[in-house]
Amino acid sequence: MNIIVINGSPRPDGLTAAMLHRLADTLLQKGADVQYYDLSKLHMKQCSGCCACYRTGHCIFQDDAERLSDAIAKADGIVIGSPTYVSNVSGLLKTFIDRGHFVIEQLLRGKYAVGIATGENYGSRDTARISAIR
Ligand SMILES: Cc1cc2nc3c(=O)[nH]c(=O)nc-3n(C[C@H](O)[C@H](O)[C@H](O)COP(=O)(O)O)c2cc1C
Repeated sequence: MNIIVINGSPRPDGLTAAMLHRLADTLLQKGADVQYYDLSKLHMKQCSGCCACYRTGHCIFQDDAERLSDAIAKADGIVIGSPTYVSNVSGLLKTFIDRGHFVIEQLLRGKYAVGIATGENYGSRDTARISAIR
């Protein structure tokens, strides 16, 4: 199985990353092919709201967000992790979800999708649900 793991925290060495790395290690031990991405290290423009992706399946911006969407298209499943920021996903992850919203929704059809959230007090459940775009 080809699994994409995406860290939506701006902190590549934070708590969310620690959880995702542990999960990625387990998946590797089980024989999965794992690709790990830190959104904080990618170059992503903000969604411009043109909805070209809805018509064409591709974003007008050919940057890392578009390349990651292509990788998701080929994967069997994705794991998306986010810290809870004000009872929601991080702004970083929201940028990626906005950029890939129409495409990802279709790309995720029939795939495994898991959302993981870290937090300190409140809102992690909603964050995990939003992370996996459910
Ligand atoms: C701007 C901001 C907003 C936050 N809002 C919440 C929140 O609403 N609920 C919560 O439980 N934790 C909140 N936290 C705490 C983080 O979710 C928590 O520290 C998280 O584990 C950090 O993950 P990271 O180490 O991967 O960056 C917030 C942190 C920041 C920086």
